[in-house]
Amino acid sequence: METIKLGINGIDKLFIDGLPRKSNLLVYGKPGCGKTLFGLEFIYHGVDDFNENGVYVTFDQSRENILQQCRKFGWDIEKHMKKGKVSVLSFAIDKLDREVLNKIISEIRKTRARRLVIDTITLLALSKYEDKYTFLIKDKVVVSNSIQQFIYSVITTLNCLDTTNMYLAFSSDDESATQDGISEYLCDGIINLRIRKMGKAFIRTIEIMKMRRSNHLSGIHNFSITDKGMIVED
Ligand SMILES: Nc1ncnc2c1ncn2[C@@H]1O[C@H](COP(=O)(O)OP(=O)(O)OP(=O)(O)O)[C@@H](O)[C@H]1O
Ligand SMILES: [Mg+2]
Repeated sequence: METIKLGINGIDKLFIDGLPRKSNLLVYGKPGCGKTLFGLEFIYHGVDDFNENGVYVTFDQSRENILQQCRKFGWDIEKHMKKGKVSVLSFAIDKLDREVLNKIISEIRKTRARRLVIDTITLLALSKYEDKYTFLIKDKVVVSNSIQQFIYSVITTLNCLDTTNMYLAFSSDDESATQDGISEYLCDGIINLRIRKMGKAFIRTIEIMKMRRSNHLSGIHNFSITDKGMIVED
């Protein structure tokens, strides 16, 4: 089985057997827990350390905001964008058209991406048109009332590509990852990022809740966010 490294400082030792290539990961947590940062590191280290091209899709920030966040951590992602190795796509959720999946797929093909991040699947799941999910897969129009069918189609369609996929999800509590209830089941791996206040400091933790086809460390591990990015502690 071919495996890859996430590349985030200290995290890969949690994946004892490595992360199976082309698997899909769900990374969930409350606001401010570090989801976007986690996804950006996956893309940035992917291209900078392992020469794996990547596509980052955001539904809640502008492209410029994402680039600013990278600059703040000293990651020159724009250098890779100029070479066509990385793309950052930003979609406004209220203007989502049914072409969104096709646009993501064509960007993956254009950049020959091996890594994809969707920030967040929670927002993508809000993309109803006239009270229904209407989307285009290749040239087939799918109209559905069901969030589960929509999520199923998104995940299985993106699964057919050559990328390792990371879905970020907003969650208001740490027990349930998503409101659709199906992403957890469809994804091969689930990671929970937690944040809690202790006095004046934030305590941040990470836990791998599930990882198909691979051995991993169980339990809760502390991490911090420094001016160079995330560091998972021993
Ligand atoms: N340079 C830095 N040094 C330390 N901590 C930082 C730095 N930059 C950002 N942070 C922390 O990272 C957090 C933001 O992380 P991030 O945007 O990845 O969270 P998120 O889970 O995506 O949030 P949301 O659900 O609102 O999108 C900030 O709230 C801040 O606490
Ligand atoms: Mg975010």
